[in-house]
Amino acid sequence: MPFHAEGGTRRPGAAEAAEVGGDDAAHVTESVDLVEPQGGVEREAVNEEGNRSLAPLPIAHAEAVDRHSWHGDQFPTPWDLASQNRTRSTARLSPHTVITAGIPREFGAILAPRLRRALSSLVAVSPARIDLARLPTPLERAPRLRAAWGGPEIWVKRDDLTGFELSGNKVRKLEYHFGAAIAAGATTVVTCGAAQSNHCRATAAAAARVGLRCLLFLRTPDGLPPAALSGNHLLQRLAGAECRFITPAQYRDRDSLMAEARLRIGDAWVIPEGASDAIGALGYVDAAHELAAQIGEIAGPFTIWHPASSAGTTAGLIRGVAETSIDAEVVACSVGEPAAEVAARVEAILGGDLPPGVRWSVNDAHVGGGYGVVTADELAVQAAASRLTGMVFDPTYTGKALYGLVMEIAAGTFDGGDTVVFWHTGGGFAAFAHDWSAVLSAEHGEADRSTGQ
Ligand SMILES: Cc1ncc(COP(=O)(O)O)c(C=O)c1O
Repeated sequence: MPFHAEGGTRRPGAAEAAEVGGDDAAHVTESVDLVEPQGGVEREAVNEEGNRSLAPLPIAHAEAVDRHSWHGDQFPTPWDLASQNRTRSTARLSPHTVITAGIPREFGAILAPRLRRALSSLVAVSPARIDLARLPTPLERAPRLRAAWGGPEIWVKRDDLTGFELSGNKVRKLEYHFGAAIAAGATTVVTCGAAQSNHCRATAAAAARVGLRCLLFLRTPDGLPPAALSGNHLLQRLAGAECRFITPAQYRDRDSLMAEARLRIGDAWVIPEGASDAIGALGYVDAAHELAAQIGEIAGPFTIWHPASSAGTTAGLIRGVAETSIDAEVVACSVGEPAAEVAARVEAILGGDLPPGVRWSVNDAHVGGGYGVVTADELAVQAAASRLTGMVFDPTYTGKALYGLVMEIAAGTFDGGDTVVFWHTGGGFAAFAHDWSAVLSAEHGEADRSTGQ
């Protein structure tokens, strides 16, 4: 598979991107709408009693879909799409019972010394872990994808099934962050992301489960609450999280905002954006070990293809693969950032301690319009994949990574002898905050109208 991490071109962001997208900061690019609300962050529309005034804002993400590039009444094939002009660059304290204080035995044995040092410099206490996720997640073959798209055999690692409210990759990282928070005696967890952040939703749900307060700094284009309670934001609110809405400009100072909140609250545990640090990455070290125990049927080397953004998932997988006998290349499919930036994040999380001998790369050839900006082509591939698997893909992360994989298949990167494990990192609730009507109406909507059913 001849592509490797190379610096890519930063795609322009869009105001909409900040609204649609989930979790990471780097997406708040210069082109994001930088409207400052009067009164700054303290002027958020939630009073002491938790009552919120919802301003009637338009749902911005509908505009992020490029409706002009696809009009067909059939989903385009990967080959159609590949022939179009595209920019390419390749560059377990169970909440109920069990408390595991200190470095769990299995990690005590496997953590590389420098990663351990990185961990101990980041946490005042040794990492603990609580059980939040339903593990192991299944590893499923998806034969209909191969039948439709050709190329490699495709397996799906179903981290979309780590739970319902706790579905997706974030919960594996949160098992360690909540373990550390509880071990440190925190009463509150504080974190940040976009209003539709999967990470913030999972944090809110985990906090509700273990009985901690949850304070979220949520980015919206104008620093006001979203017009609609939908998708992940609805679940954040249902779980009782305190939501402070901030502008993209304020979000750039998210670490200071969270540090101030911690000082004010006193016993708060701050979880960085996406829970992507050395603590959170341990969840994906575990995940690689989990995969190693499941790959009996996969013969020979394979590729682990997954969406990447704040890079905690990638960093953990790289470390985990190094610690197992898995013969795989870890390929991080960037959903917005240049490959070099994702790679730098991986290195920062691993404390510069990149395990020798692990094959890994970042592919930023398929970021399209940028983070959270979804084209009709991408949506069409995601919808086609749902029809071929029954699974749900979110437009910002898993759907974009799946689109990238389909493009690589079409480009001949993989042949029939290859195997790809597509790591489904969840995000399904964000699909409910998206307007799919343009891509779906051509098929079923019109047929239904014509038959009156
Ligand atoms: C559904 C989903 N998949 C993938 C990612 C990317 O993971 P990471 O931030 O660890 O790179 C995220 C991050 O927000 C996510 O929500």
